[in-house]
Amino acid sequence: MEASSLSARSINLITCRLEGKVAIITGGASGLGRATAKIFARYGAKVIAADVQDDLGHSLVDEAVTSNQTISFIHCDVTKDDDVKNLVDTVISEHGKLDIMFSNAGILGNLSPSILTADAEDLSNIFGVNVFGAFFCAKHAARVMIPAKRGSIIFTASCVSKVAGLASHTYTSTKHAVVGLTKNLCVELGQHGIRVNCISPHAVPTTMYNSAIPLEKDIAARLVMDTAVLKGVTLEANDVGEMAVFLGSDESKYVSGVNLLIDGGYTTTNSSLGDALAKALIHSP
Ligand SMILES: NC(=O)c1ccc[n+]([C@@H]2O[C@H](COP(=O)([O-])OP(=O)(O)OC[C@H]3O[C@@H](n4cnc5c(N)ncnc54)[C@H](O)[C@@H]3O)[C@@H](O)[C@H]2O)c1
Repeated sequence: MEASSLSARSINLITCRLEGKVAIITGGASGLGRATAKIFARYGAKVIAADVQDDLGHSLVDEAVTSNQTISFIHCDVTKDDDVKNLVDTVISEHGKLDIMFSNAGILGNLSPSILTADAEDLSNIFGVNVFGAFFCAKHAARVMIPAKRGSIIFTASCVSKVAGLASHTYTSTKHAVVGLTKNLCVELGQHGIRVNCISPHAVPTTMYNSAIPLEKDIAARLVMDTAVLKGVTLEANDVGEMAVFLGSDESKYVSGVNLLIDGGYTTTNSSLGDALAKALIHSP
């Protein structure tokens, strides 16, 4: 085979990693979900972004049209079983199958670090999105993936599932729950050929990140860089998207039950970012 046709084939393999796959991405209108939707589409997937932010969702679709990519948007509140059912049923009726469910929608909830301020409404809100939402996405994805005997379910957890003291008790608890769900589901759904994994990023600049680190963007970025283990690179939303591509594609065909940390080794250390942030907040006006 000539070198030119070999390289053309390699390029094709690289650009078509998700060719023919149908993928739902919740929280797809913004942040990590939005970045992942674009990357999935670039690799050939038909992407359905689901979110409660309709204007942002429609703007994603408009951007995709100009780049000749296949992204559609469906309004879905993941805290509502019926909304998620409708999302999956609509995808099946329009595309005939669901290959990838990326259950990524999440909220931070009340940022208070103290158990003394635990509040029923906050608990209900954050568990509603981060945990109930993950359950409903898994439930309805499994419902259509089991007969197909294949599929990849991916959740977004967080590096707070690995190290303590970085976020509120509520947010941290929800992300531990997501890891537990990932592992238990991996056992139940493995017999049907369905893989279940989660991704646990460190801090990535998004709307959520900006509300979690209430400092000027440059100062916040500097804090993360100064406390990073891996120097010379910064974590970006697209890096999370690329990991989701790997877990959604057949390249990871024997990977299931994994909590994939994207943290440059940060969680092998301690909560120094949390400590530094607390000090910086004391001195900030
Ligand atoms: N950004 C980070 O530093 C970071 C780090 C670790 C984990 N995460 C996780 O990544 C995921 C994405 O967060 P992000 O940083 O992109 O934040 P983001 O706020 O930019 O995006 C979250 C998206 O979820 C959507 N959403 C919220 N409630 C919803 C609901 N009930 N139904 C449907 N959609 C809903 C929002 O509208 C938003 O579009 C979350 O699960 C978050 O916990 C983020």
